[in-house]
Amino acid sequence: MKAASLHELDDDKPVETNVDGTDIVLVRTEGDVFAISALCSHAAVPLVDGDVEKCALECYMHGAMFDLRTGKPLSLPATEPVPVYPVTIDGDDVLVDVDNPMKES
Ligand code: FES
Repeated sequence: MKAASLHELDDDKPVETNVDGTDIVLVRTEGDVFAISALCSHAAVPLVDGDVEKCALECYMHGAMFDLRTGKPLSLPATEPVPVYPVTIDGDDVLVDVDNPMKES
C-alpha cells in the first residue's frame, strides 16, 4: 500500500498517515524510511510529535525511546514494544505493508 511519496518526507521529520485503516508514523532517517505505529505503548499519545535520534523515535510525553527498526522500547517508562511495519521504496513511492507487522526477534 502506498503510504507517501518519498520526496514529501524530510529527514528526521516524522509524518503521521493512515494506510488502509492503520495509523502509522513514517520516519525518514539515516538513509532509510521506517514505519511505526502512531501511538506510544505507554499512554497512547501520538509519536509523530517526538524527536528522531539515532534510528529511534522519542515519545514527547515521558521520553521513552523506540527503536524504529524493531519497535522495542530502548528506555523507560515504556516497557511494551509498538508495532513496526515493512517499508519498500519503489521509485518515489513509499510502500508500507500494514498487514504484516514485523515480528519481534
Ligand atoms: S506516553 Fe509515551 S512514554 Fe509515556
